[in-house]
Amino acid sequence: MQTIRYGGDYNPEQWPEEVWHEDVRLMREAGVNLVSLGIFNWGVVEPAPGEYDWDGLDRIIALLHANGIGVDLGTPTSAPPSWLRRAHPEIRLVDADGRALASGSRHGVCPSHPVYAEACASIVEQLAARYGSHPAVRMWHLHNEYGWANVQCYCEASAAAFRGWLAEKYGDADRLNEAWGTAFWGLVYRSFDEVEAPAAAPPGVNPALQLDWRRFSVDAHIANYRMQRAIIARYSEAPATTNFMVPNCKDMDYFRWAPEVDVVSNNHYLIAERAEPEIELAMSADLTRAVAGGGPWMVMEHSTSAVNWQPRNIAKTPGQMRRNSLAHVARGADGLMFFQWRASRAGAEKFHSAMLPHGGTDTRVWRDVVALGSDLERLSPAVGAAVAAEVAVLWDWESWWALELEWRPSVELGFRERIEAYYGSLWRQHVTVDFAHPEADLGRYKAVVAPSSYLLTAEAAKNLRGYVEGGGHLLVSYFSGIVDEHDTVHPGGHAAVLRDVLGLWVEEFHPLREGARLALTSGATGRIWSEHVRLDGAEAVAAFADGPDAGRPAVTRHRVGAGTAWYVATALDDAVDDRAAGLRELLAAVLDGAGVERPAGVPDRVEHVRRGPLSFLINHSDQDATVPGLRGTDVLTGDAHEHGVPVPAGEVVILTD
Ligand code: GAL
Repeated sequence: MQTIRYGGDYNPEQWPEEVWHEDVRLMREAGVNLVSLGIFNWGVVEPAPGEYDWDGLDRIIALLHANGIGVDLGTPTSAPPSWLRRAHPEIRLVDADGRALASGSRHGVCPSHPVYAEACASIVEQLAARYGSHPAVRMWHLHNEYGWANVQCYCEASAAAFRGWLAEKYGDADRLNEAWGTAFWGLVYRSFDEVEAPAAAPPGVNPALQLDWRRFSVDAHIANYRMQRAIIARYSEAPATTNFMVPNCKDMDYFRWAPEVDVVSNNHYLIAERAEPEIELAMSADLTRAVAGGGPWMVMEHSTSAVNWQPRNIAKTPGQMRRNSLAHVARGADGLMFFQWRASRAGAEKFHSAMLPHGGTDTRVWRDVVALGSDLERLSPAVGAAVAAEVAVLWDWESWWALELEWRPSVELGFRERIEAYYGSLWRQHVTVDFAHPEADLGRYKAVVAPSSYLLTAEAAKNLRGYVEGGGHLLVSYFSGIVDEHDTVHPGGHAAVLRDVLGLWVEEFHPLREGARLALTSGATGRIWSEHVRLDGAEAVAAFADGPDAGRPAVTRHRVGAGTAWYVATALDDAVDDRAAGLRELLAAVLDGAGVERPAGVPDRVEHVRRGPLSFLINHSDQDATVPGLRGTDVLTGDAHEHGVPVPAGEVVILTD
C-alpha cells in the first residue's frame, strides 16, 4: 500500500556533515520518506564554469538512501551562480522600468535569454547523467517556482523572443492587427519587428498586446522546463515536477502548465493574518486538484508555523499545522512537504519556520511534526483516491489578467474578490467544489458557478449553454461574458455571448460609489455594482429596490432545455451583517434546485470533505462540535462512532465507513 509522501526541502550544503547524520536520524523519527535536495546549490556543485564538485551531493544522497529516504532531486536553475551573472551581465532580468536587476538573490535572470538557457542545459545534463539512475532519486524537481521573481523580462532578448512567438501565432502582421484591434489609435503594425514588449508606457497600452505578452511570458518559462525535462528523460524514468504557486501567482497560467508535468505539485503558504485562513487554503487545494485534472497532487511546500515574508509573520496556533496539513490531504494531496527541513542560521529565510526549528527537538513544532508523520502513516486509504465534488466554480487565469488591466468600469472589479466571496460561502455551507476552466467538460456537475468570467470565449459560452441545455444549473455573476480572448467586446450588447443561456443582456453598467450599498426587493444588499439588465426570456427573481437601477432585475432565472441559468447583477455578500446573507441564500436556492445535498447541522467552521472511503472533519473553531448523521471508525484513533461524530475544538477526525 502506498503511503503519503512526507518531508521537505533539505539544504544540507548549509550545514557541516556531522549535522547530516542527526538530520537523517530525526527524519526517520518523524516518518520522513522524501526530501527535496539541491534546489539552490548550483553555486556549490559548479563553483566555476565547467568545474564540478559532486562530493557533498554524492554523500548525502548515499546517506539518505541507506536510511530509506527518497530524493526529489532539484535542478538548481532558479539560483544562477555569481560567476554566470558576472561573465554574462546580459542575462540579468530587466524590469518594466528598464532597470537591470543586480545579483545577491535568486531568480533575477531573463527566462528567454539563450545564454541562460545554455547554462541551464549544461548543469542539468551533468546532474541527470550523474544521478539519473540512482535508486534514491524518486522524482525530479525542476527549477523552483518558475516565475516567482522573474515572470516577465523586458530585455531585448525577451522582446525578440516575443516577436518570434507572435510570428508563430499569427503568421503575418495583418492577422495580428485584426486580432489586436490595432485600428484603435492607429496602432497598426506593418511587421512583427515593430512590436515592443509592453514595458513602462503611457497609460492605455493595448490590452490585447498585454494579454499576449502574458501568454508569451508563461510560455517562456515552460520552454525552459521542457528543455530541462527532455535532458532528464535521456537519463531517468523518474517522474518530474516543478512547484506551482496556486492560487497566489496571478502571472502563471497553471492550466497552461499542467500538461507539462508528470505530477502536479504546489506550494501553499497560509495567509496567516486572515480571520479564516483555512478557506483560502481549501481554495488553493481545490484549484490545484483542478490543475491536476481532477487527480491527486502533492503539496511541495507549506510551513510548520510562521513564514518570513508576510507583513506580520503570525505563528500557527496549536493544532493549526495539523489542520492545515490534513485539509490538503482531504482535498487530494498525496504528498505533504514543508519548506524546509531544518531552519537556516544564515541568509534571508532564517526567521521562517521549519520541521526542525532553531530550538531543536524540545519544541512544540517538532512534536507536531513527529505526530503528523505518524498520522500520515494511517492515511494510506486516501492515496490516489478521488475527492467527491458535485459543484464546479469556473476559474481562468486569462480572465483574471484581463479583468485587472487598467481602465475597467470600477477599480473594485476584482477576480479574486468575487471568486473568494462565492467560494467562501460554499465552503461555509460544506459544499466541496472542483474548479474548472470554462471550456472544460462540465457534464458531471450538478451545479456550476461563474463568479468572475469577464473574459469568456465564444467556445466557452457555447460550452455553458450546452451544459445548461443538458440539465445543468448555472449561476453567473455580473461583468461576465464581456470580452473575448483579445479583450474585444462581444457584439450585441454586454454579456450578449451568454444571451441565449441567461435569457438577458446588459444595456449599461452602473458601478457604485465607494462604500455604497443598495437594497434588493428580497431584503439582501449589494455592493460595488448595479447594471441595467434587459430580460430576454429570463424572469426576475429579485429586483433592485433602490440605486441607479431601482425597479430593474437584480437576480434572474432562465430555464433552458433541461436546466436553469441564474444571473446576479450585484455583489451580494455572505453574512456581512444580518440583512446581507444574500449570497448564501441565493447559493442555497441554486444548490437546492440542482439537488446538491449538504450536511445538516454542521457548524460553519467545521470543514467536511469526502475523499475516497474517508470523511474528513476538521474543526477550525474554538467550540466543540458534533456532526450528526455520520457513523464510522476514526482511522487515527480507532474509535467507533454510531450516532454522530464529536469533533472537539481545533481537532481533526477522519472516518472510514
Ligand atoms: C517559497 C520558495 C522557498 C522558500 C519559501 C519560503 O516561495 O519556493 O524556496 O523561499 O517560499 O516561504
